[in-house]
Order: sequence, then structure tokens, then C-alpha cells
Amino acid sequence: MSAICQVLHQEGSWAEVVSHFEYEKARRLGVPGERIIFNGPHKPRPILERALAEGAHMHVDHLDELATIESIARDRGVPAPIALRLNFDTGFTEPWSRFGFNLESGQAHAAIAAVTASPHLRLVGLHSHIGTFILDPRAYAAQVKILCTLMQEIETVDDTRLDYIDIGGGLPSRNTLHGTYLPPEQAVPDLDEYAEAICTAFLDGTAYRLERGAARPRLIFESGRAVIDDAQVLIASVVGRKPLPGGAPAVMLDAGINLLFTAFWYNHQVSLAAPARGEPRETVLYGPLCMNIDVVRASVQLPPLVPGDQLVISPVGAYNNTQWLQFIEYRPAVVMIHPGQQVSVIRRAEDIDSVCEHDLLPARLGNTGAEGTAPPSNPIALRRAS
Ligand SMILES: Cc1ncc(COP(=O)(O)O)c(C=O)c1O
Repeated sequence: MSAICQVLHQEGSWAEVVSHFEYEKARRLGVPGERIIFNGPHKPRPILERALAEGAHMHVDHLDELATIESIARDRGVPAPIALRLNFDTGFTEPWSRFGFNLESGQAHAAIAAVTASPHLRLVGLHSHIGTFILDPRAYAAQVKILCTLMQEIETVDDTRLDYIDIGGGLPSRNTLHGTYLPPEQAVPDLDEYAEAICTAFLDGTAYRLERGAARPRLIFESGRAVIDDAQVLIASVVGRKPLPGGAPAVMLDAGINLLFTAFWYNHQVSLAAPARGEPRETVLYGPLCMNIDVVRASVQLPPLVPGDQLVISPVGAYNNTQWLQFIEYRPAVVMIHPGQQVSVIRRAEDIDSVCEHDLLPARLGNTGAEGTAPPSNPIALRRAS
């Protein structure tokens, strides 16, 4: 959401984007190309051309993309600085192999050789994103060590200097994954432990630079969910109740997985907006969709609720507004509370006009407006047209 991105940019954060749309959004918010990191497996040629011209940090995912960038650079007559996205086994995380070039199989070295052999490309960085909600800081230490070792190898063979390594995101937020029984304060290590692991490995892994009389490269970290999850809550209202066959109370809310995609993997905290009445019981919280999967919490201790009661669901700042669905229901307004408690609407609630804004109704389906075309009078033509 633009206002949220803008707070982060005002605080000095760069933009990390993974699509044409996200690149355009960052530029519209005033982020200059040189403060944009462009990841993602799908970067169509027109946006690659723009991003290269604007000096964005290009992180190449596969050889076809590399070939497109090389051809753009050839056309422009200016070598393109690029970083390669890599994947490998840290020994502490489930290896992800679908993004970037695999190290163990030799793909990464082949890509490095292709870049260094091209007069139109210049290798300036190495990137990897080893996973998400990583609960073991040692995974980052292993990742940094692997990247620094590779960087040293490249610099020794080619007598070049890379500008940076980027270690992606993946820090956990203060949320509770399904199947985790400890509260986040106990299950999630302190951020300082990650910083310690990352910086120690980086200082060790880049010490060779100092021995060669050069400065250390830059270390880039993509802050991801950890920086934003705690910043948002969802306020939902009770719309109805029913006892389930086993006797457990079930409560229907006006917000479900349409707004709370992360309910698929988190047990969010749920608290009452007003003081509780009565004894808490194990309660099921359902959303408003006609879908059996629309479960906000499968079991949570709550006192008896009545229609109109409001629940505060938190933290919901990461991967919800970005993945929410316009499915069955309108999506609600989002407000930002500023220092000093002033409130601004930062996204309007949807209505029938905004939801249907992109729909077109062909004339033969009842559109009498100017943009429709008349339905064919010949029924055979009508069948062919359908
Ligand atoms: C390249 C890259 N960087 C950063 C992130 C942010 O990840 P997280 O929210 O786990 O920190 C992602 C998420 O998929 C990603 O693909």
C-alpha cells in the first residue's frame, strides 16, 4: 500500500521489487532507480529496459533473462551491471531451488562464466534468499559464508571486485506458525542474534579484501515481513453464532481468509476490543465466505461473543493486504494511525463501482452503452461468435 511504502522510504529504506507493477509503483512513489533492487523470475523486456536505463540493481533469475539483458545492453551500447541470484543448501534450511542459479549443480558457475565472458555484462553482486520465517540464525551465517567464499573465488580468478552481496529476507516476525506451541517471545530469536550471526560471518568472509588492500563490499539485507508484520491489526465484527455438533461454540466474523491469507499458516492473536463477559471457551472463528476452508482460528479461547462484538486480530501487517482476495465480499478500508493519534484512510473501502471498474459487458450480453457492439442477427454467426 502506497502510504506504508512511503513511511519506509522516508525512513531511508530502498525498494525491493519483483515485477513490472512493483517497479512502476516504487518509481511512482519517487524511489530512484539506484535505490531499487529488482528480483523476481518475470521481468518483461520493456520494464528491464527502463530499469537498466534508470540504474536499478538487476538480480538475474535465469539464463533467458540474462540473454534479454545482454541484448538490451548490446542495443544501448552500455554494459549492464548485474547481480546473479543463487540458490544452495545452507545445511540449516530447506533448500529452495526454483529461484536463481543452483550452486551445487554447477549452474551458478556456468552463469558466472557467461557473464564474465560477455562484453555487454558486468557482474557486480551475488544474491540469495534462502527461505522464510527462518528460526535459526546459523542459517544466515552459513549463507553469508557460502556467498563470500564464492565472491573471493570469482575475484581471484577474474581480478574483479564485486560491489555487494545481498542475503535476501527471511527473518521471522512476532507471529505464531501453525504447529508452534510456544509464544513468539520464546519461539522467535531476538533480532540481535541474527545481526550477530550475519555480521560475524560477513566480517570473516570479507577479511580477504582488506588483505588485498581493498574495501569490504556492501552487505544488503531485504527486511521482508519482519519489518512490517507488527504494524497492522485487523478489526473484525461478530455477525452470528452457532454451536457445532460436538458442542463447541462457533462464531462467524465479517472477515475471513479473503482478508487474512496468512491464516493458512499463522495462528494469529485474537483479543476483544471491549472488556470480556463470561468464562472463556475453545471457540472456532469462521469468516464470511461460503467455503469450508474459511477458518480464521480453528480453536481459540474466547468468552461468549454476541453479534456486534469486535475482535482485534494481530499481527497482520505482512502478506495480507498484498495477497487479499476480492472474493464474495468487498474489501474494507485501511487506516493509518499517525504519531499524535491522527487517523488517515490509506485505502478506500471497495464498493460495486470500484470492484466492477475493469469489467466490460459486450453488447450482446445486454450492454446498451456506446462501447458495446450490436449482437449479430444471424444465429449461426452468433454461435460462432460465442
Ligand atoms: C527475493 C526476496 N527477498 C525478500 C523476500 C521477503 O521475504 P520474508 O518476508 O520472508 O522476509 C522475499 C519473499 O519471498 C523474496 O523472494
